[in-house]
Amino acid sequence: MKRTLGTCYYPEHWPREMWEADAKAMVDAGLTWVRIGEFSWSRIEAQPGKFSWDWLDSAVKTLGDAGLKVVMGTPTATPPRWMVDRYPDMVALDVEGRPRGFGSRRHYCFSYEPYALECDRIVTMMAERYGANPTVAAWQTDNEYGCHDTTISWSRAARDAFCLWLAERYGDIDTLNQAWGNVFWSMDYARFDDIELPNLTVTEPNPAHVLAFRRFSSDQVVRFNRRQVDIIRAHSAAPVSHNYMGRITDFDHFDVGADLDIATWDSYPLGFLEDRVGASPAHQKRFSRQGDPDFQAFHHDLYRAVGRGRWWVMEQQPGPVNWAPYNPAPLPGMVRLWSWEAFAHGAEAVCYFRWRQAPFAQEQMHAGLQRPDGADAQGMVEARQVAAELTAAPEVTPGVAPVALIFDYDADFAWTTQPHGAGLSYFGLVFDHYRALRALGLSVDIVAPDSDDFANYRLILAPGLMHMDETLKNKLANAGAQVVLGPRSGARNAEMEIPRPLPPAMPGLDVTVSYVESLRPDTPVPLALVGAFQGYTETIDGGAEVIERTAQGAAAVMRQGNLSYVAGWGDDTALKRILARACDDAGIQTRVLPDGLRCRDTGSEQFWFNYNDAPVQFGDINLPAAGVLRLDLTEAN
Ligand code: GAL
Repeated sequence: MKRTLGTCYYPEHWPREMWEADAKAMVDAGLTWVRIGEFSWSRIEAQPGKFSWDWLDSAVKTLGDAGLKVVMGTPTATPPRWMVDRYPDMVALDVEGRPRGFGSRRHYCFSYEPYALECDRIVTMMAERYGANPTVAAWQTDNEYGCHDTTISWSRAARDAFCLWLAERYGDIDTLNQAWGNVFWSMDYARFDDIELPNLTVTEPNPAHVLAFRRFSSDQVVRFNRRQVDIIRAHSAAPVSHNYMGRITDFDHFDVGADLDIATWDSYPLGFLEDRVGASPAHQKRFSRQGDPDFQAFHHDLYRAVGRGRWWVMEQQPGPVNWAPYNPAPLPGMVRLWSWEAFAHGAEAVCYFRWRQAPFAQEQMHAGLQRPDGADAQGMVEARQVAAELTAAPEVTPGVAPVALIFDYDADFAWTTQPHGAGLSYFGLVFDHYRALRALGLSVDIVAPDSDDFANYRLILAPGLMHMDETLKNKLANAGAQVVLGPRSGARNAEMEIPRPLPPAMPGLDVTVSYVESLRPDTPVPLALVGAFQGYTETIDGGAEVIERTAQGAAAVMRQGNLSYVAGWGDDTALKRILARACDDAGIQTRVLPDGLRCRDTGSEQFWFNYNDAPVQFGDINLPAAGVLRLDLTEAN
């Protein structure tokens, strides 16, 4: 596979006279791809039915003539003002029932059909116009579904569509009442039309109701995206992608991804560290100019799975951003490191956001590869370096990691519905496992729960996988790998009910979770060896062997054959030890890396990344601050 670079460009932001020079400068910088169009609706259709395509035609031609390839974005994330005037009910409502109005972006409700029809119309026109244009070599649908908390809408349109979705899922109302346990608190419904959205209730709504609404909201994103994909495919053979975001889990990306050719995501390591990694202040301070050493990698691995092997970084942070609580500049070298780390995880392309910093509007404080005056910014220097290094690097072979970590969006919906303790999240639990594996020097594949590839792995982890059907349990039990479950794996049936026999009810593993507790942050449960369970712990018993105990002597980890169950949320120390032991059982070699040093293998290379702001040494590996080392394994052999 060949690896390429690109950028995100907004020709509509700049005078036409600049486009040709911009295109030439992009080529000179070693870029291949330019994404355009995704926020351009008001300049394509300034008034309903009054179209100006000439500027976009000319932008595509200018870029194509320079030798660049275009990713064409559909403009549906930014409906123009006239659209909202025409359809005042198209905007989403927040959980309090207030409209999320015009004046920024993503101001639409996925369930509002007249807006979906407008999207069909504009996407059809774009696809007809550019579908056969050889410069348009890829497509992007919309922009960052779910960003700015926009998956869920509490609108009338959502409520009406939800009732239809429920009728389809449950068939008759008695089945729904039974499945949700509506005998409780006299919540029985007589007809589907009686069911409101689960907001504005006096106290907590039924978790089965909430979970159903989350699943419905996810399906609405899938449906909205699929309409665009179908239209584009009718006119174009070019691959279709969508740009996902970091730590957005409120729609099922595997379901959206099933309709697409390429998964892409938008990687803002410093913005993420400040506003969504959830690390301690000391960690944030230490990595403030480098980003979390595992957060990007986690998403690279997740989106490789979502894209079934094909994935890009569509937006790479090139310098300070504008949207986090604090927005420092990256340590020199980090833009290069982030780019190479994406390639180490199998990215086909890395595109920098954005070409030139805009001097106006919301993102005027957001760096580009160029400053607002067109001079090179620091990001450009590093992008050029990566481009030069890529020409010298041979094509790469994808590899299979020894460890698979299951990520299930439906489990995230269930945890969000019923976290059971403040601050407990499925994403957090899975990410802690990922961090521990990386700290042990391992490459990891993230896999969907319905994967058919379990047999490729020596170790499979399924922490927090709330709902496991019999097929999945049997697949895991028979995968021939060491399998580590828990905490909370198999804790609920598909309708959010506690299953009987009690969880995890895993064939071949005689373990029963007899009760569960969430813990205050200041009351961890110490383990007999070092480390502790924090936030969440379970009491387990059964005939399986106890291989770890709490300091009080209760079972903490039990194992039978190739299956183990961990009865709590391990802290860093506990997780590293428990997972190192599981690796040992699986015949996988581990090595504890120094903080901030990370390693990743492709099929033909080994990469080392130093996320520290100081040099690091580990055996033969010597790296400066922000250093990258690429070892060609084929040469070594
Ligand atoms: C992304 C978005 C871009 C831009 C960028 C700024 O979330 O897709 O349009 O806003 O953030 O960092």
